[in-house]
Amino acid sequence: MTRCWCSHRGPLKSRGMSATSIAELGGRVGETVTLRGWLYNKRSSKKLHFLELRDGTGTVQCIVDNDSGPSSFELAGSVAQESSLEVVGEVRAHPKRAGEFELGVRELKLIARAEDYPISPKEHGTDFLMDHRHLWLRSKRQHAILRVRHAIIQAIRNFFDEHGFVLIDAPVFTPNACEGTSTLFETDYHGDKAYLTQSGQLYMEAAAAAFGKVYCFGPTFRAEKSKTRRHLAEFWMVEPEVAFLDLAGDMDLAEALVASIVEHVLTTRRPELTLLERDVTKLESVRAPFPRIRYDEAIQLLRDAGHDAKFGDDFGGDEETVISSKFDRPVIVHRYPEQLKAFYMKRDPENAGLALCMDMLAPEGYGEVIGGGQREDDLERLEQAISKHGLPRSAFAWYLDLRRYGSFPHAGFGLGVERTVAWLCGLPHVRETIPFPRMLNRLAP
Ligand code: 4AD
Ligand code: MG
Repeated sequence: MTRCWCSHRGPLKSRGMSATSIAELGGRVGETVTLRGWLYNKRSSKKLHFLELRDGTGTVQCIVDNDSGPSSFELAGSVAQESSLEVVGEVRAHPKRAGEFELGVRELKLIARAEDYPISPKEHGTDFLMDHRHLWLRSKRQHAILRVRHAIIQAIRNFFDEHGFVLIDAPVFTPNACEGTSTLFETDYHGDKAYLTQSGQLYMEAAAAAFGKVYCFGPTFRAEKSKTRRHLAEFWMVEPEVAFLDLAGDMDLAEALVASIVEHVLTTRRPELTLLERDVTKLESVRAPFPRIRYDEAIQLLRDAGHDAKFGDDFGGDEETVISSKFDRPVIVHRYPEQLKAFYMKRDPENAGLALCMDMLAPEGYGEVIGGGQREDDLERLEQAISKHGLPRSAFAWYLDLRRYGSFPHAGFGLGVERTVAWLCGLPHVRETIPFPRMLNRLAP
């Protein structure tokens, strides 16, 4: 069953015992093809077996009858869910569903039998499914979600690559706390203390001084101590950083990125969104420009909505939901009180109590998908902020060098992939947005 992907052997196509993929069947009507995959579902009558086969590219109904021969008919009768199979058959247009195809089976071969597959079509509890995440990935809904995730990541990479950004990978082990000390995962590093990165930002600031426009894209880690619908212990974040960019330019960049992600997903992943029963009209209105409101306007908005909010309060999920419900597209909230934000934020020259920061809140209550802003570029003020936040100066000596040797105005942000997936797929919880979620109380499988 060897496969060759080498270009010198012609097009990228499986060879050897070559098989067709289910996604290709539309172009093969009338031909006899070989499919390989797993049994997803089965219906049988006396004279017919309808096998629903899946191969990762789609599912197709394979009809086994008298013409398929006695051994194939017998196998079709006995084979159980998730057994792996090879099917040879003729591709036909589906008699009832336009645009769909089925296979008239000539021969059915067993590759490996599965017995008592634990995930049956009946309802299972979330804990059970999470314990069987390695198998749950095979179900149609999970499949659709992870394909949307792939499209989101593709759109992000396309966007930055097409706009002249250089990909710079940030380290995972780090001596620095970027986003406060309360969510650090600590580990021993040959006798020294190290942390799993919370954000690649500080390294991107160094890289922006070398390359101008950069981004990193990788897993980041936070020891979130509470169970919420929006927090994972390990999540993927894309973090652009741009030299000579201010807060307004940073908001423009965030808006353009998110609009292009939504457009790409709507263009390439309609069938998946339909399967997930996502109301796509809600996504179709996600077009630039996005509304931008100041933090103090957001407080007023909350008060007008009957919330007991006052200047200086941070926003949790509930407040974000109320704010976002006033808009049909993402809303950017900027200039929060500086004490609510990380040490590296630049102060607003017009009001030193405010940080030149911004959060983008997704519509429909999906919460903050982006956090970022303009960075403090003044050496002295940054040194003060580091001590005020109780951070060890020694770990930030290299970071201060960036303000010592040609300091420059710069800005960037981080977009959380999982929250973006939850929003675009319409999922109430982030646990299904990543192949193998890591949460409080969950490290397996
Ligand atoms: O707002 P955050 O904490 O910002 C930063 O880490 C900055 N250093 C980024 C930067 O400016 N380069 O996180 C950014 C985004 C959030 O808006 C959210 O989408 C996501 O990362 N995020 C999480 N996603 C899932 N689980 C968690 N525990 C998350 N924490 C943050
Ligand atoms: Mg944030």
